[in-house]
Amino acid sequence: MYLGIDLGTSEVKVLLLAENGQTVGHARAPLIVSRPAPHWAEQNPHDWWRGTLDVLGALRADYPAEYRAVRAIGLSGQMHGPVLLGRDDRVLRPTVLWNDTRSALESERLARLLGTVPAIAGSQPMPGFSAPILMWLAAHEPDVFAQLDCVLLPKDYLRLKLTGERQTDPSDAAGTLWLDVARRTWSDALLEAGGMTRAQVPPILDGGAPAGYVLPSVAATLGLSPGVVVATGGGDNAASAAGIGATQRGDAFLSLGTSGVLSVIDDRSEPSPVTATHAFCHAIPARWLKVSVVLSAASCLRWVCKLTSTIEATLLQEAAALDARAMAAAPVFLPYLSGERTPHNDAYAEGVFFGLTHSTDRARLAYSVLEGVAFAAADGLLALEGSGIERPAAVSLIGGGARSAFWAQLMTDVLRLPVRVHLGGEAAAALGAARLGWIAAGASAGAVLVRPREIAACEPDPARFALLDERLQRFRELYRHVRPLFA
Ligand code: XUL
Repeated sequence: MYLGIDLGTSEVKVLLLAENGQTVGHARAPLIVSRPAPHWAEQNPHDWWRGTLDVLGALRADYPAEYRAVRAIGLSGQMHGPVLLGRDDRVLRPTVLWNDTRSALESERLARLLGTVPAIAGSQPMPGFSAPILMWLAAHEPDVFAQLDCVLLPKDYLRLKLTGERQTDPSDAAGTLWLDVARRTWSDALLEAGGMTRAQVPPILDGGAPAGYVLPSVAATLGLSPGVVVATGGGDNAASAAGIGATQRGDAFLSLGTSGVLSVIDDRSEPSPVTATHAFCHAIPARWLKVSVVLSAASCLRWVCKLTSTIEATLLQEAAALDARAMAAAPVFLPYLSGERTPHNDAYAEGVFFGLTHSTDRARLAYSVLEGVAFAAADGLLALEGSGIERPAAVSLIGGGARSAFWAQLMTDVLRLPVRVHLGGEAAAALGAARLGWIAAGASAGAVLVRPREIAACEPDPARFALLDERLQRFRELYRHVRPLFA
């Protein structure tokens, strides 16, 4: 048995994987994001560990025999947010998350300092990446910064708790802006530009490497057998790629979680110097993920549920029941509730509903939110193509958003690409983490990183192109008009 732990932003998920490659069971626990100021987002690493203990406890209660048979654990997690450790591994402050845009000025400063950043680091400096967050902390919380002994990434904090080791992997390290993504090693030039030293970042091991063993005292608390190996694991997008078997150049998937991330696998590291896309390392050697990011995706749907006091299933059903005339009359939505990354790299962008009338009801609001996220993904695809990535033949849909057949078809018609949904795709990152654990226990990547069974296939419907295209143009026009109004 192999255990995958995926530390998301809205929840911690764990998954048990059997030797035959089938998922035995899941457990999940919600996480709260604290927003102490507009555009800020933080979580306390202690809550990540508490959530992990809860879900492991639930899994142990539901599958006692299988749980006891766990041989290896793999880790996946939200990227970028630095866990700041003092000596003795003390957490110095809550983690500033990947969708927090307070470090906009620092990221502009970093861009000026290093004109060649994208060429080495894989991305233009953007707020929410570790380097500008650390620069913000150095400027605003110098007392905390002065105590900094080591920075870990979110999933690496769970490893520290499990094994006592400070380590990371190339896919997560690629989200710091301190990594040379081609060489998969820390770059002294980038670290120095961000005011950091090599002593403050952990060693890097491959995603499927055995990075340590669960400490005997922790194994006793968790009810695990002694000697369970912990794989290095990967950032959530790389782990998801492992989960859906996206390992070859051109394989593409769209993750609809708190964020919306479109990833295309490449066998070259070269990032685009001009577009706001990212080049991240894959969890396996010699592959990279070329990525576009919408900072708010399924989180927009959760937000509109809260606004209208409705549950997601109801809103999705109501949106799906609208006819073409009602859709055409729905407002246009800019989904920039946490600012924007690809294609505009605009930390100040905000969400906008445009075109409200007396006939706007919650079904139309829901439709326009689903459509706005799809339009933002289409802008991301265009940016990837603009950076030299070939248009993929099809896209696999993963993450919580993969549960909605209506959203999948809408995405298909907006992207004009076939969309596939796979068994277990909504928990692809946890599955990928478990698979990386399996590799750390001795399995070969080729045997383990296969594509799960397809459970739905959507083909673009040309009858919907005209309406969606007209609304996509309005969406783009709207951003151009309101951009100067964002603070
Ligand atoms: C990727 C990104 C998100 C986070 C949260 O750059 O910011 O995918 O990893 O899921």
